[in-house]
Amino acid sequence: MSDESVVEPLVEIEENGPYHVTGDIPLRNRRILYSDAGESIAWRVGELIAPSGPYRLCRCGQSNNKPYCDNTHRRIPFDGTETRSPGRARRPGQGL
Ligand code: FES
Repeated sequence: MSDESVVEPLVEIEENGPYHVTGDIPLRNRRILYSDAGESIAWRVGELIAPSGPYRLCRCGQSNNKPYCDNTHRRIPFDGTETRSPGRARRPGQGL
């Protein structure tokens, strides 16, 4: 038995544009917690913004409706080209 209303989770990247998120991927606020010395020590999970897709997340950093894309990227010289070479992702504390 299958549920045809279920949409598989998917994140697609629009060339020089936003992330297109569909399916069961909740969007939540998170805040950095700091020590008394001002060092980041952990994340605090915040409120639920969207229980699932579809939504479009800004990648250019210039949206007036963050975290969502408001199409500002079309009016600015945003180059969303990925610059990191493929390979294993670094984990915190592994250095450069
Ligand atoms: S990616 Fe569209 S406004 Fe930033």
